[in-house]
Amino acid sequence: MSTPFDPVRLGRYDLPNRLVMAPMTRSRANLDGTPGALAADYYAQRASIGLIVTEGTQPSEDGQGYMTTPGIYTSEHVAAWRATTEAVHAKGGHIFIQLMHAGRMSHPDNTPHHRQGVAPSAIAPGAQMFTPTGLQDAPTPRALSTEEVAATVADFAHAARSAIEAGADGVEIHGANAYLIQQFLAPSANQRTDRYGGSIENRARFAIEVAQATSQAIGADRTGIRLSPGTPLWGIVEGLCCANRPQGSSWPLKALGYATRCV
Ligand SMILES: Cc1cc2nc3c(=O)[nH]c(=O)nc-3n(C[C@H](O)[C@H](O)[C@H](O)COP(=O)(O)O)c2cc1C
Repeated sequence: MSTPFDPVRLGRYDLPNRLVMAPMTRSRANLDGTPGALAADYYAQRASIGLIVTEGTQPSEDGQGYMTTPGIYTSEHVAAWRATTEAVHAKGGHIFIQLMHAGRMSHPDNTPHHRQGVAPSAIAPGAQMFTPTGLQDAPTPRALSTEEVAATVADFAHAARSAIEAGADGVEIHGANAYLIQQFLAPSANQRTDRYGGSIENRARFAIEVAQATSQAIGADRTGIRLSPGTPLWGIVEGLCCANRPQGSSWPLKALGYATRCV
């Protein structure tokens, strides 16, 4: 029987062991999203693990939610990330950059552009988040237009190409933990009436398009996706808890102030 310390093939890579470092937001980047001076040392110190998945990294300006998180969409980001990937490779490690669009889990005080967050629908998460002045409510986001959803898909593909240009071995799409992709999946956050809302197929469309566009950009054998089905986090309700209710019945979510339907 294999153990966590045995080698494994993952996509196009032979990893020396089966241990993967979970992505962890560090908030140590510069204000423009370039990774800070500590990043190369921090990740190189951990290069003996089978695979490093980096902290969530925004694929666009609007993708940022928290303070001083890194980006991977400008030439400055690419140059700065290259120092980290080279330091990890010099120690024999492998590193995937996690592409994280925070969606409505964002606060204007946390971003250099100070814009309202974007999301499938203009529904606040009912959550608080850390800002430079302490915990604040995450405000109501602006709903993306249908055209902007397509542009956001393209942003993920561009960010994936940028990650490879920076020397990363691949990317992990962050589809979990109540951020933009899960906001599309969950009827509690997605009440759209276009092709990205309504049925399960429509709500899953954004996640699938992001995965397809990213795979086409850099190859499916170095594209991963992280999912967290059923996570009851920050106003996310996916309907999985309806298992014992009749299909089509509605049920109130009093805490969140609206009703949803079992699918
Ligand atoms: C401070 C902190 C930052 C995190 N940042 C990310 C992140 O950027 N992307 C992500 O997918 N998960 C993130 N997570 C979730 C972790 O990857 C992990 O799933 C979580 O800590 C649960 O694992 P554990 O039970 O071993 O702690 C973060 C968790 C913590 C505590």
